[in-house]
Amino acid sequence: MGDVGNINWFPGHMQKAKREMQEKIKLVNIIYLVLDARIPKSSFNPLIKEIASNRPILLLLNKADLADKAETAKWMNYYKDAGYYCLDIDAITGYNMKKIVPYTYEILKDKIDKNKERGIKLSMKAMITGIPNVGKSTIINTLVKKKMTITGDKPGVTKNQQWVKLDSNLDLLDTPGVLWPKLEENGINLALMGAIKDDIMPIDEVVHFGFDFMNKYYQKSFYERYNIDSINNINDYYDKIAKARGCKNDDYEKINNIFLHDIRHEKLGRVTVDRLTSI
Ligand code: G4P
Repeated sequence: MGDVGNINWFPGHMQKAKREMQEKIKLVNIIYLVLDARIPKSSFNPLIKEIASNRPILLLLNKADLADKAETAKWMNYYKDAGYYCLDIDAITGYNMKKIVPYTYEILKDKIDKNKERGIKLSMKAMITGIPNVGKSTIINTLVKKKMTITGDKPGVTKNQQWVKLDSNLDLLDTPGVLWPKLEENGINLALMGAIKDDIMPIDEVVHFGFDFMNKYYQKSFYERYNIDSINNINDYYDKIAKARGCKNDDYEKINNIFLHDIRHEKLGRVTVDRLTSI
């Protein structure tokens, strides 16, 4: 990931990012908005609707390999009902990645047909956007592997933007647009999934939230991993994890890190932190 993950999103940065996005969006017919499938609400910045200026938005629920399948299905239905196009993908193994191009043609069918009728031979253009860490660069790399980058002085192709051909009639902007995460409402869920830096939120609070979350929604895999039988208070979590992982039960920093690593990397099973019932 580039520097964008380190940006503190002050209002000035947000305005700049918004302006840059609006400029890029003028060049494209469709927007691929990447979400983290484990936090499909918290990783969604609703501002996209405003800056998309009526262009269709295809939501890519990435990291589907780490998310709870049943919850992903619910979120896909939720977003479809709200008028979005949706695909669950995994940019690393390539799951559903091959569907992106044909789905794009389907979404843009009317536009493509109209161009054909008028004898216009213009490729469709797409861009990828989303908050940091959702997998935008990984998706671009997977999509463009072995594909040729086209640059040029064609109308609609600005000098400093590079396009890569995804198919005979579809070009992708090779750099993603970056949206900022909405920390006020979603900070703790974003932090738990590592979508924002660990020093932005108080780490103890994030971990305690994570313990309670796992206890409520995924107790079986949580208890199995750390040999937990029952929990009476927060210290019990620390005691059990310390015992299971061979560290001191007052080494809170180490235990916090073990837990955060485990929950983010599927060691506690697939998890979806944003729950539809909590909307
Ligand atoms: P960005 O451009 O949106 O900022 O995200 P980027 O592609 O850099 O991806 C962020 C992290 O997420 C990377 O891991 C990347 O390998 C991982 N990732 C991206 N897509 C997927 C996916 O579909 N499934 C899984 N399991 N991981 C994915 P990293 O830098 O090693 O960080 P992390 O894994 O410790 O979070």
